[in-house]
Amino acid sequence: MMYCFLAFMHHIAILDFGSQYTHLIARRIRELGVRSEIYPANTTSGSLPADAIGIILSGGPQSVYDERSVQIDPALFSCGRPVLGLCYGHQLMAQYTNGAVEPGTVREYGRAELMREDNVLMRSVPEKSTVWMSHGDAVTKLGDGFKKIGATADCPIAAMANDEKKLYGLQFHPEVKHSEYGMTMLNNFVFAVCGAEKNWNIEHLIDLLIADIRQKAADKKVFVLVSGGVDSSVTFALLSRALGSNRVYGLYVNTGFMRKDESEEIEAHFKSAGFENIHTFDAHEIFYERLSNVCDPEEKRKIIGATFIDVKDGVAERSGLNGDEWMLGQGTIYPDTIETGGTQHADTIKTHHNRVDAIQRMIKEGKVIEPIAEFYKDEVRELGRLLGLPERMISRHPFPGPGLAIRILCHDTEKSATAPVRKEKNAAVLPIRSVGVQGDNRTYAHPLVVWNNDGWSELDAFSSKTTNNSKDINRVVLLLNETNERTFSLPLKTKSLTLDRIRLLQDVDALVMREIVDAGYETMLWQCPVVLAPIGYDHFESIILRPVVSQEAMTAHFARLDRQFLARLAQTIVDTYPIDYILYDITNKPPGTIEWE
Ligand code: XMP
Repeated sequence: MMYCFLAFMHHIAILDFGSQYTHLIARRIRELGVRSEIYPANTTSGSLPADAIGIILSGGPQSVYDERSVQIDPALFSCGRPVLGLCYGHQLMAQYTNGAVEPGTVREYGRAELMREDNVLMRSVPEKSTVWMSHGDAVTKLGDGFKKIGATADCPIAAMANDEKKLYGLQFHPEVKHSEYGMTMLNNFVFAVCGAEKNWNIEHLIDLLIADIRQKAADKKVFVLVSGGVDSSVTFALLSRALGSNRVYGLYVNTGFMRKDESEEIEAHFKSAGFENIHTFDAHEIFYERLSNVCDPEEKRKIIGATFIDVKDGVAERSGLNGDEWMLGQGTIYPDTIETGGTQHADTIKTHHNRVDAIQRMIKEGKVIEPIAEFYKDEVRELGRLLGLPERMISRHPFPGPGLAIRILCHDTEKSATAPVRKEKNAAVLPIRSVGVQGDNRTYAHPLVVWNNDGWSELDAFSSKTTNNSKDINRVVLLLNETNERTFSLPLKTKSLTLDRIRLLQDVDALVMREIVDAGYETMLWQCPVVLAPIGYDHFESIILRPVVSQEAMTAHFARLDRQFLARLAQTIVDTYPIDYILYDITNKPPGTIEWE
């Protein structure tokens, strides 16, 4: 690990039970100025180094009472080192100290209001504050010597403490930015409870990264797939700086699933940033052919990842660049790894294009170099600025490697029945499905569509309540356009990734992005996916708008854009294109993910 130069300094040990947020905890501790290291869940108290002055137990996708659930060395709770358990870690702490954990009566995903009590962990936290939850199970009885130090409406033991033994547990996630005072609580644990001193800063990070690249690449050359996004651009710039541009070959692959006119723009960006070692290849025919009848999201993702490698191999072979002296450079960032189930106990939420089998094999063979794999996008942007990349390259909205292919939902009449739509008052369950993340697990379930004039706050509360209470619904969308039709049906014919659907989404996406930029929303949004779904009553095509606000994409909330602006935009889309419904995603992450597939 690249931070080993600080190995002699004290640190906070994080035991990983497979949470989507384990690595984020480590990052937050570093943000507090203290070194942190991640250890496997089965690390014993005796094998933890003496300079681990405090322990954090991460969350995880399992239930503590499952026979096969990940357990822990009980001595960790009596070794004298302070322990903070988060989510699954909080439940483990209760289980190992004679408390009890049971399936919660209400599952909680997303926002909740914490009422705290006086305790060292809660210093400077107001009596009421917002915390971010993601759990089905709950602690129902405190362990020996514990007292309750916080509760939410649906979780009576949301925070607990045994001050004498310095053991603390939080059901919610203080490490995500959406927990308003989460950093204050972590700060209290690290400094007031563990007695840490500041010993970490990232001033020398670029030098460290460059040294790391030189050591890993040795005398090899690197072939980098660039997409025009900030991650691969920063990777490319770092590699070029570390190895010199004659040892780095950048390849931009046009998959045909880019945004309208995007390929031309990206080529121009690289030229104007002064990069000469970038080449382009138009591979849209190969991608279209391989994906033409594929409807399942994970299948799409795996084919796209594998095709990127085949295309790269073809280009390398034709240019004579595929000998043993070449490695593959990738702009993988941390969320790509964790969402693909890349740590020992983590569930696969989605397979990111840079984490498919062919690449996993190359990683094992030591043929891949990923200089920014430990970072989140906001940190990568900081690195990009330090490297002097142009701001318009750095501040672009993220765009997923598989592109519009995972924003075009498909329907195969042979594989899935046209499920009947369940109607409720002013709402209906849609016959399509999308990916979500609940309690660290992947979900693939139906959205509920609602139509009413409620304000954003009421809609937000309704959305959380709906997804918390019904297992078959993981998203809620609001109907935006004026129409009396309420038949949200699937077509009788198969809808796949056809050229006309790709063009349709490219056009609508371009219109939406123009409007968003003109209305001044671009900088407040993390990104705004525009999704095409095969439902309706006439054209059997609908558009879903998914503008979200986020800091690093691990959690997000839907954006509360002006309702008149949205109504006008929806009307323009249905007046201009063969689209039946315009839907607005009002789901936070969790329980929804940002992308739909
Ligand atoms: P989700 O949908 O998991 O997305 O909440 C989190 C962030 O990751 C982006 N994303 C991807 N980026 N390759 C990428 O380079 C992928 O396969 C991929 N899938 C999702 C997504 O756009 C969001 O910013």
